[in-house]
Amino acid sequence: MSKATIADKQPKAVEVEEGKTYAWCACGDSSNQPFCDGSHGGTNFSPKVFKAEKTKTVYLCMCKQTGNPGFCDGSHKHL
Ligand code: FES
Repeated sequence: MSKATIADKQPKAVEVEEGKTYAWCACGDSSNQPFCDGSHGGTNFSPKVFKAEKTKTVYLCMCKQTGNPGFCDGSHKHL
């Protein structure tokens, strides 16, 4: 499996809305970071789809090396 592209070495703070569904880009190639724009076509990657349980600010992973798909787990500090 190829490695995901590092879109940035810091997470992106995003305000998500309760009940809304989001698709986090796992491949790193989307031009609509941190969300999927379909650029993963033809790769082994697929977006992580999640539903916001609350309206709040979340820190979405931009380095794409997180162990908790979608969310920053601090992995960018080791790149
Ligand atoms: Fe990256 Fe869809 S564009 S997962």
